[in-house]
Amino acid sequence: MEKKVIRLAVFVSGGGTNLENIINYFSKDERVEVSVVVSNREDAYALVRAKNHHVPSCVITRKQFSDEPDVVMNAVKDCDYIILAGFLVRIPDYLIDAFPKRIINIHPALLPKYGGKGMHGHHVHEAVKAAGEKESGITIHYVNNELDAGEHIAQFRVALTEDDTADSIAEKIHVLEQAHFPQVIERVIFGL
Ligand code: GAR
Repeated sequence: MEKKVIRLAVFVSGGGTNLENIINYFSKDERVEVSVVVSNREDAYALVRAKNHHVPSCVITRKQFSDEPDVVMNAVKDCDYIILAGFLVRIPDYLIDAFPKRIINIHPALLPKYGGKGMHGHHVHEAVKAAGEKESGITIHYVNNELDAGEHIAQFRVALTEDDTADSIAEKIHVLEQAHFPQVIERVIFGL
């Protein structure tokens, strides 16, 4: 009998370091395939990374996400899970309904703190620094209809010092993301 491959769609908007880490991690696992990369921006460096790894990709604009559900559904039609790896477009309800508990996001802070509208990437680290937090971290969670409010799957923490800047916090968060995101995805898709 042919073994079923679990297919991931990875949605990106930016640099794609998480995307690349996910591709590399699962390249050693024949049960999992990154089948498609979807970017809302045609200039996202993540698209170059996808191309370098011979992963098919497409651009679907923010407007298309809201106005053209068929285009989005067609892009992910063969996929089992959608992974948001630095994706900055709100996920529309039709997609959440089509992938219940099958859309996973990574957020660069310890939700519920520093989530919601405008809280992404460097804005998060600047807010964490301004608040003088003693720690930050990452939250990997399911996506539901409320921004950054879906059920948590895992959190990882890192201590901050007074000397940390938004940039050094970003670097600490990057290390956590690289160390944990693919492994958590693996746990979810295999029910571990
Ligand atoms: C990551 O830090 C991710 O946690 C964050 O964007 C960055 C993308 O980096 N996501 C959010 O802020 C979502 N609200 P990458 O493109 O290099 O993977």
